[in-house]
Parts: sequence; C-alpha cells; structure tokens
Amino acid sequence: MVEGAESEQGYKQSPKQGSKQGSKQGSEQELKQKPKQGSKQELKQRPKQNPNKEHEQYEQEFDYQLRKVKEGLAEIFVPVEKKISKQMPVFYNPIMKLNRDLTVLLLKQFPEMSICDPLAGTGIRSIRLAKELGSYKEIVANDLSSRACALIMRNMQINDVEFAVSNKDANLFLLESKGFDYIDLDVFGSPNFMLDSAAKRISRGGIIAVTATDTSALCGTYRDACRRKYWAEPVRNEIMHEAGIRILIRKCQLVGAQYDKALVPIYSLSKDHYFRVFLRCEKGKAAVDNVLKQHSLFWLDGAGKVTIHKAIVGNATVGKAIAGEAMVSKATVSKAIIGRATVGKVHAQDARTGFGPIWTGQLWDKELSRRIAASASPAAADEGPSCSSCSYDCRLFSKIAGEAETDALFFFDIQKIIKHEKIKKNIKKSVVIKAIGDIGFIASETHFSGTGVRSNISYDGFVGVLKKLATH
Ligand SMILES: C[S@@+](CC[C@H](N)C(=O)[O-])C[C@H]1O[C@@H](n2cnc3c(N)ncnc32)[C@H](O)[C@@H]1O
Repeated sequence: MVEGAESEQGYKQSPKQGSKQGSKQGSEQELKQKPKQGSKQELKQRPKQNPNKEHEQYEQEFDYQLRKVKEGLAEIFVPVEKKISKQMPVFYNPIMKLNRDLTVLLLKQFPEMSICDPLAGTGIRSIRLAKELGSYKEIVANDLSSRACALIMRNMQINDVEFAVSNKDANLFLLESKGFDYIDLDVFGSPNFMLDSAAKRISRGGIIAVTATDTSALCGTYRDACRRKYWAEPVRNEIMHEAGIRILIRKCQLVGAQYDKALVPIYSLSKDHYFRVFLRCEKGKAAVDNVLKQHSLFWLDGAGKVTIHKAIVGNATVGKAIAGEAMVSKATVSKAIIGRATVGKVHAQDARTGFGPIWTGQLWDKELSRRIAASASPAAADEGPSCSSCSYDCRLFSKIAGEAETDALFFFDIQKIIKHEKIKKNIKKSVVIKAIGDIGFIASETHFSGTGVRSNISYDGFVGVLKKLATH
C-alpha cells in the first residue's frame, strides 16, 4: 500500500516522513479577517531583530509580558502570568501539553485531514499540528479574542508555519464553514455550547475531539449541574471518572443523533482536572440507532448490585426514573449487567442513588490505542517507571492500550473489595492481574484508578482470585 493510504479501519498505513507542509488553502481569505496587528504584510516589512531583543520587541507590541516556551516541535510566546486562569490576556496552560500530545499522536494515525481549531488561544495546538503532522489538507485556527489572534499570527511566524486564522465566535465560524474532518473543542469548562455546531459541521468519517474541564459536575460533586448540563445522574465513588466520561460521551452522542450522525468513541482519557474524548462520526440512521441502544441507566438494588434500569434517550424521564426508585444507602458490591456479554463488576460504596444513563460501549478503538502507545515510545514497555527519555507520557498511553484490550464496563477496585470481603492481606495489583491472566481471563490496569483492575472475569471469580492469593 502506498504511503499515507488508508487501511480498512481508516488509519494511515504507514507514518509519513518528511512530507511537505500542508496546503495554505483558504488562508488568503481568512487572513483578511484577522486583526491588523501582526498581519502577513506587516510581518514581511519588519526588519530582522536581534534574537536577544525579541522579548522587548513583542512586549512593546503586545500590551502584556511574554515569555517563550517550547512544546513538542513548537516554540511559542505565551503571556507571563503567575496563575493560569481565564483572565490571562491569552490563555495557555502548560499542563495541557499531554492533551495536545495525544491530539498529535492520534491525528498522525489518520490520512490528511482538514483541521479546525475553533478555540485556539495562543495557537499552540494548530502550530504543533502544522509542524508535527507533516502534512494535512488545511488548518484553520479561530478565537473570539483579537489578542489571541494577534499572538497566533506572531507564533506562526516564529515557527515558520502558515495557516488560516479567524477572529469570530466559534459557533458562527463553524456554521459559516463548509465543514471539517477534524474539529477540536478545547473549551473552558463544559463543551456543551459547541456541540451542536460541531456535530453539524463534522464530515462523514471525521473526528470531533472534546475536552471537558467541568469534572466536578460529571463526577457528582455538583449533581444538579450534571443533570442540567448532561441529562444524567452522576455517581460519586471509585468509578466516578469512568462513569463521568461515559456521561459526557452520551451527551455528545445525543446531539449528533439529531443530525443522523453516530459519534463513536475511539479514544478516551481522564487526567488531572479534565476529560478528553475523540469521537468518530458515522453517518446514517442505523449507526445512530446502534449507538442509542448502548445508553443505559444503572441502579443499585437492595443487595447492592448495579443493574441496568432502562435505556433512556434524551432528558425527559431521567430525573423521574431515579426519583421514583427507592435506592439503598449502603450497597457495597455491585454487578453491572448490560446488553452484551460479561461486563465486569462495579464495587460501589456510595449507592445512595442510581446513575446514568451512560454510554456502555467502547471507550477506545483497540488498534488505534496500540498505535498511539507504539508511536509515543516504541520502547515504552522496556523503559520502566522513570521513562525520562520520552517526550510523551508513554507509560500512560501503554496503560490505556492495555485496558482497551479488555472489553469490560468499569473495573474492580482491589482495596474496596479486600475490605468488603474481609480479606486480611494486601495483594499487589500486578500479582492479581497475572493470576487472572493465568486462569484464562483478560486483566489490565486502568488509567481511571491506581487501585483498579479492568477484567472480563466475574465478580465472584475476582474475589476467588484475591482469596486464593491471600492464602499464599
Ligand atoms: C481553553 S482555551 C483554548 C486553549 C488552546 N486550545 C490550547 O490548546 O492552548 C479557550 C479559548 O477559547 C476562546 N473562546 C472562548 N469563547 C469563545 C467563543 N465563543 N468563540 C471563540 N473563541 C472563544 C478563548 O479566548 C480561549 O482562547
């Protein structure tokens, strides 16, 4: 197969090397919309500066202080701020490097795309994609803030890349566009306000990437906020992060469903204060119906089992269904049952309410997860915990590739189960995983919890393994 051609799954067959910079399609028109400051013409006329004077020059030009940072292959100017907040003249959060690393690694697995960065900030994401992908059909960076657009222009110049920059409200920008193969919703807080326009403008086979930083709503600190914003009941216990990301995914899918677009997760990440999901768009009623069938509401019954309640599409009956049930307050061990084979078990300590509806299907495409882990570090498996030679968080990506192999909903929390089952010995996670593998089941770590094991073994089987190990 020729370089860059698609495999059956739509992935690129081989990584591109040294291919030319992406086209500048659309840039001239878009550049007209950008603020005068930092325009292409203006940049060309500016005499070359002594590099040591760079800071001074930019600080005069921009009415705030700048510093230079290196991230991936990009070097950009960002505002000097003591505190990362929305109040920064232009927003840049170094902690989100991992979020951007993942974006680059994931998009490298697909053929050339038209890329839209509608909430671009300093432009770091678009600039990294322009430099690190090697080739693409088109990149357009947009931000409502004219200060951000001016900084994007400057950052493009110092990185020797060029793409279109637009200075509009992101929804307006998307709705006026012809659509894109990749749309990156990197918002403050909830992505809700962007979901509709992104769902409308994503192409068939395209990918919408969603960041949500309002994990306190999705994970049940603010239950009312979760009901209002995500039309679901959160759960607040050891599975809250996985449940929260599944609530977020379902919300995106409900918005897509309105336009006959099935949004299927191909990669999911829960990290620090945010969730990140990549959803691939399949068009057609059958694909959408298939997605909606995998939305389920769970409850905890008197024995503490989590069971499927019923699949509910939309918001209407969710609150009522939950309120109408008498939920137990002290359920401990739970069992998840959904409309496919064994799905693992949930050990839920706080069972004062049911939760969901959630997306119960895959969080990761297995092959894609393997490819991302491999491209983050081909030697990831051998590098051990320090892994200092890697620029990517290769251990995290290989952990995720491992859990993607296990078709199980939720995971077992070793500490909780040991306590509940009154097992008197602490057992190492790696020992449990090996023992489960030895009796023919799949087991892996989970990036959602340090004490979790994702496995297709039954709850009783899991407890049996723990008890056996405890007697050794
Ligand atoms: C979280 S920051 C984006 C960070 C950036 N994507 C990165 O990776 O560093 C969100 C950005 O969205 C912009 N923004 C907020 N509301 C917007 C809107 N309605 N339309 C366009 N841009 C908006 C803000 O100015 C800010 O730069």
